[in-house]
Amino acid sequence: VWQHIPQGPPDAILGVSEAFKKDQSSQKINLGVGAYRTEEGKPLVLNVVKKAEQKIVNDPSENKEYLGITGNPVFNELSAKLAFGENSSVIREKRNATVQALSGTGSLRVGAEFLAQHYPVHTVLLPNPTWANHNKIFPLAGIKDVRKYRYFKPSTKGLDYEGMIEDMQSAPEGSVVVLHACAHNPTGVDPTLEQWRGILKTVQQKHLLPFFDSAYQGFASGDLERDAAAIRLFADAGLELLLAQSYAKNMGLYGERVGAMTVVTKSADVTSRVESQLKQVIRPMFSNPPRHGAAIVVEVLSDPRLYAEWREELKGMAGRIKSMRAQLLQALKDVGAPGTWDHVVNQIGMFSFLGVTKEQVRVMTEKHHVYLTQDGRISMAGLSASKCRYLAEAINDAVRN
Ligand code: LMR
Repeated sequence: VWQHIPQGPPDAILGVSEAFKKDQSSQKINLGVGAYRTEEGKPLVLNVVKKAEQKIVNDPSENKEYLGITGNPVFNELSAKLAFGENSSVIREKRNATVQALSGTGSLRVGAEFLAQHYPVHTVLLPNPTWANHNKIFPLAGIKDVRKYRYFKPSTKGLDYEGMIEDMQSAPEGSVVVLHACAHNPTGVDPTLEQWRGILKTVQQKHLLPFFDSAYQGFASGDLERDAAAIRLFADAGLELLLAQSYAKNMGLYGERVGAMTVVTKSADVTSRVESQLKQVIRPMFSNPPRHGAAIVVEVLSDPRLYAEWREELKGMAGRIKSMRAQLLQALKDVGAPGTWDHVVNQIGMFSFLGVTKEQVRVMTEKHHVYLTQDGRISMAGLSASKCRYLAEAINDAVRN
């Protein structure tokens, strides 16, 4: 009965890791998936995570019972505070329905299914380009009209602010607009605070519904508050919005699949009804979320000592990425790669969007065993000092071809 099934395409991001694993070369580098590596190229478990896990293991009251459908309530509360700020009116007025979900993807999917069922405008605007998974999550959740708004300007390798505003202006009234809260994936190009104010104005004029994807809070600048500035600007303006949070990158909890989905409403009464409907989405999808990752997050966010240590570890990770950017730029200059490469240091977050063609990506991978996504994105977090020169030579060779 399965004879007719065609081979599915490799995933745009995780498929790169699969290809990397098959490569036998000792020189291979995986800059595909956004996952932090140490200078030695090893995955990193944060010290605060190890400490939190010890506390959990030693807690005699800990068990393996099911969580409720919306997950760990303390986790939900702390996640909302992390995003909106301790003194946010959203939290004070109980205008946030926050539920635990499966990292960024799972949170986005819960949000998208909720929108498909309860929001009348079935148009979603995504930045061009955006994280590959966004393109699939919304249509599969039942929102068929997915459009692009201009975001990246190849000529400047910066933000196409005017294009972005124009496209939002000409979108159907009330469209959902997906905004990367910070460290835009894949470009590493973020609006300035001034530009965020302009975006907010357009969103208000067109009654757009913002859907923030926050996968890098604290990881972009090393500062949790600064990376939440756009979310807080919109929330403090009294807007209704959606927010998907992930702890994959900022707490290094990738495989624990821990995240949160928030719907901001106008009143506590609406919040309670929205939450009841989020439960209707979650129960038949995955019933209830896993305990362990959320328990770790609760320990780290609620213990002042662990929280302070986490902030330091975040700074350490963000700092290493920054230093990789500087070292790669220097190596590109050293090997005499044609063109300007300042965007490598100007972009922020986990990725650099090199501005290379698909063909150049193919040369980098097939000839030099450097693995990156087809759009020319490299994970700066996967790079180490000892590999910068090799990478610069591969880029130089590819762009000269
Ligand atoms: C990425 O963009 O590489 C990460 O967000 C991992 C993923 O799930 O795609």
